[in-house]
Amino acid sequence: MGQTGESDKPGIFQHRAQPFIICRLTTGDPSLPTLGVNIDHVATVRQARRTDEPDPVWAAAEAQLGGASCITFHLREDRRHITDRDVPLLKEVVVCKLNMEMAIAPEIVEIAVRTKPTQCCLVPEKREEVTTEGGLDVVRLADRVSEAVRRLKDAGIVVSAFIEPQAGHIEKSAQLGFDVVELWTGGYAHARTPPEREKALKTLHEGVRTAIQCGLEVHGGHGLTYRNVAPVAAMPGFSEFNIGHSIIARAVFVGLRAAVREMKDLLDRHGAPASA
Ligand code: PXP
Repeated sequence: MGQTGESDKPGIFQHRAQPFIICRLTTGDPSLPTLGVNIDHVATVRQARRTDEPDPVWAAAEAQLGGASCITFHLREDRRHITDRDVPLLKEVVVCKLNMEMAIAPEIVEIAVRTKPTQCCLVPEKREEVTTEGGLDVVRLADRVSEAVRRLKDAGIVVSAFIEPQAGHIEKSAQLGFDVVELWTGGYAHARTPPEREKALKTLHEGVRTAIQCGLEVHGGHGLTYRNVAPVAAMPGFSEFNIGHSIIARAVFVGLRAAVREMKDLLDRHGAPASA
């Protein structure tokens, strides 16, 4: 089996069992949700000056040393942060799971098929957005999504759908052949009042249950911070959280390795077993 998902039959439960050196060194209880660190934000700082620092590839190494079980990057069509130069280097440097976020654009699908990350997470992409806003509309875009899923799965890549926690979208993701759904946690993260937060948590909880009933592995992400992650981490069923902005923001002050370690400690402290 290859180190980044080049197994004969990649499957949704294989990540945990893969002999990822970093995971074994840093993950205490393998049933707890793991941490994927999104390093795009490091590349955003680099691209602000169109220079060569800070390097997201260095960030990937540091995040792994801090306890990340997954490194997530998003190669956008406009290459606003991660660039083509970064992709093969990340593939080489990342010894834990490598998760490529991407639009369903054929050019990007081609790059993913060539690169063979462990997992591809299909997301919506709009030029005018600051970051990914909301989930992919797998119902409206079913034909195009289905083609991308087929191409990626044929290449042996685990495929995830970044979707909102709505039953229709979760069930459609299962029908389209996704292995994983990453549920958009932005509804919870952006809630302004305790009742709004409670409602969003309930929606997420129902989403997780529906996804598990559909046989999907469940991840979560977007807008999670050191202050708000605990209630979501404590929800049974999530096996991975992908977190970017908050970790990179803290890293400015404490360093990336320490910032990742702090978030990982929170997940270890508050996380519920994925199978509970
Ligand atoms: N998951 C997905 C699919 C995303 O698009 C993003 C944003 O890049 C994240 C997780 C991480 O979100 P944040 O930077 O708000 O932690």
